[in-house]
This record gives sequence, C-alpha cells and structure tokens, in this order.
Amino acid sequence: MTRETILSNKPAPEDDDPHLRPMKMSEMIGQKEIIARLRIAIDAAKQRDEVLGHILFDGPPGLGKTTFAHCIPNELGVPVDLLSGPSLKAPKDLVPSLTNLRPKQVLFIDEIHRVPKAVEEYMYTAMEDFRIDLILGDGINARTHNFKLRPFTLIGATTRAGMLTQPLRDRFQIREHLDFYTLAQLGELVKRNAEKLKVAITEEAALEVASRSRSTPRIANNRLRWVRDYAQSRADGKISLSVAQDALKMAEIDDQGLDRLDRKYLDTLIRICMGGPTGIETIAATMNASVDTLADEIEPFLLRSEMILRTPRGRIATAKAFAHLNINPPTNSAFNNGGLFRDQE
Ligand SMILES: Nc1ncnc2c1ncn2[C@@H]1O[C@H](COP(=O)(O)OP(=O)(O)O)[C@@H](O)[C@H]1O
Ligand SMILES: [Mg+2]
Repeated sequence: MTRETILSNKPAPEDDDPHLRPMKMSEMIGQKEIIARLRIAIDAAKQRDEVLGHILFDGPPGLGKTTFAHCIPNELGVPVDLLSGPSLKAPKDLVPSLTNLRPKQVLFIDEIHRVPKAVEEYMYTAMEDFRIDLILGDGINARTHNFKLRPFTLIGATTRAGMLTQPLRDRFQIREHLDFYTLAQLGELVKRNAEKLKVAITEEAALEVASRSRSTPRIANNRLRWVRDYAQSRADGKISLSVAQDALKMAEIDDQGLDRLDRKYLDTLIRICMGGPTGIETIAATMNASVDTLADEIEPFLLRSEMILRTPRGRIATAKAFAHLNINPPTNSAFNNGGLFRDQE
C-alpha cells in the first residue's frame, strides 16, 4: 500500500478486494432501513417470478453503492454485468450487454450521471419496455430492427443524483440514498475486517481507526490496511491503541480524520488569507492544486465537519478550524467582524 492510497479519498484499487467487500446484504453493516426495503422488493419479485424493478443508489463515494450492486444479484441468484457511465460513449457500447442478457440479470451502471445524452435516451425504451432499436447493415442497406430484450434489472449508482435528468430518474422504481455511518458502525466494520485480514485488534484501536475515517467504510478499510501493514513491520503484528495512533500519525492523519492536504487547505485559508472570505481559485492557486481537486476531494469533508463555510463571497474558516490548527482568530478577520453577513448591509 502506498501513502497515496491512504491519503486519497478516491477509490483505491484494493477496494475491489473481494476479502473485504460483503457479498450478501446480511454481511453489510448499517443501512438497515434500506436493506429492509430491498428485502421486501426482492422477496416479492421472487414470489411473483418477476424481474426486480430498476434501482438507483445515490450518495457520496465509499458508502456502499457498488457493494449493494454486488449483494442484490447474489440475493436474487442472478448474474451481474458491471458497466461504468464514462465508458459508455455511444449507444453501441451498451448493445452487447443488452443483447446478451441472461434471464432476470442485473446490469450495473456506475457513475450513471456521466452517461452521455444519446446513451441515456437509448436506455429509456430498454428500461421501460425491454426493447431497443438495432441498426443492421451499412449505408443504403441499413435497416432498423426492433429487438426484444430479456427483462432485466438496472442498478444505477451516482454521487450526483442532481445531475440525472428527470426522465431517467423516473424510470427507477426504487431510489435509495446512502448516508454516512456512525462511529459504532465503523468500529464494528474495522473489527470485522481486521478478522478477515487475520490481524488482532483491540476494541479501543478499532474505535480509534473508525473515528479517523470520516464516517466512510472505504476510508476505514484503507486506514485499517495501513495500520495492519504498520503493525506487521514496526510492531508485533497486533494492533493496540498506541500502534494504531503511531501508524496514523506517520500517515499524517489527525484525530479528526484530516490528512495533510486538508490541513494545507486550512493553513492557506487561515494563515495566508486571514480566515477568508477567499475565492476557491485563490486557495487553489496558492496551494498549487486544481479547483476540481479542492471542490471534489477536500472541501466536502471540511464542510461536513464544519471547518469551513461556503459563502457567495468565498470560503470562510470557522472557529472550529482555527481551534483545530491551534491559531487564535485575528481580531481584524472577516470571521470576527461579521464578514459573513456584510452582504446584507
Ligand atoms: N454497509 C457496508 N458494510 C460493510 N462494508 C461496506 C459497507 N459499505 C461499504 N463497505 C466497504 O467499503 C468499500 C467501498 O464501498 P463501495 O460499495 O465500493 O462504495 P461506493 O458507494 O463508492 O460504490 C467496499 O469495498 C466495502 O468493503
Ligand atoms: Mg462504487
């Protein structure tokens, strides 16, 4: 495992590690209400010997969308074909999957908000009537052939439900939003996965790893793998509280779960920009990072942990952020003289 893997919140290749991903809903942690609703839909479909309705999962990265897409076909006892939105550039990219469907199969499209318009429109009749138009032959010999598909279940996953068009969203019978996990749930996940990785971990150490994992299973798994590696090479292979703390300190992950880049962002906003309000472009240029990296990978967690505020006039560091960096808010900062509300004057 590289440092990048631990520090980045992006999916790591190891995330597809079949050891850690639950393959049945009964092995999943949390998300009880969603699982209960899905069970009812699955049971009913099985009893009627019908295909399960299309399902859309939305929510931030790393919370279990792909995991559900693996568990549901297993519960149904059907195969799954895994596709990703950005790889479907034209309708023809979808045709092989649609024409080779096995009975009641699941088709999973990850990042479905990134499917181009032409592909999306092609999906409408496939989803609704299980039919597609195939163009056979070239030039003047080309003929449109209406092809009947085997009924299937489409599972779509997206981190940006708002970017889906209404017609596409309406074609999903079941829509579920995944939320962040509690500390107790993540602690349980860390303990269970330590067992799968065959490494001993104490209760306090599991909670320590969980508390620095941003309420996100994928991050908890990444942190756990790093702590395990550390325990094997620097300690006796067992994860005690102090081993976990030392390992996370070495990876520069602090007690709030912030990593080096998060702290660099806060340092830029607080020390250089006096706490803001500062435009994201200015912060990005000062940090020598791209605006997209800040907006997609750094700010969501800082906003969620109430370290920064996003205002029409720029980003503002909160009192919590000043306290986290051990810096007193300067008296002339926007934060103290009501910069937040100046718009309304
Ligand atoms: N409810 C859960 N119970 C146990 N592990 C989970 C759960 N949700 C996610 N995970 C773990 O977190 C990793 C990332 O989850 P994934 O489903 O890939 O997230 P995404 O929502 O980004 O598709 C998985 O490999 C799995 O090991
Ligand atoms: Mg995923």
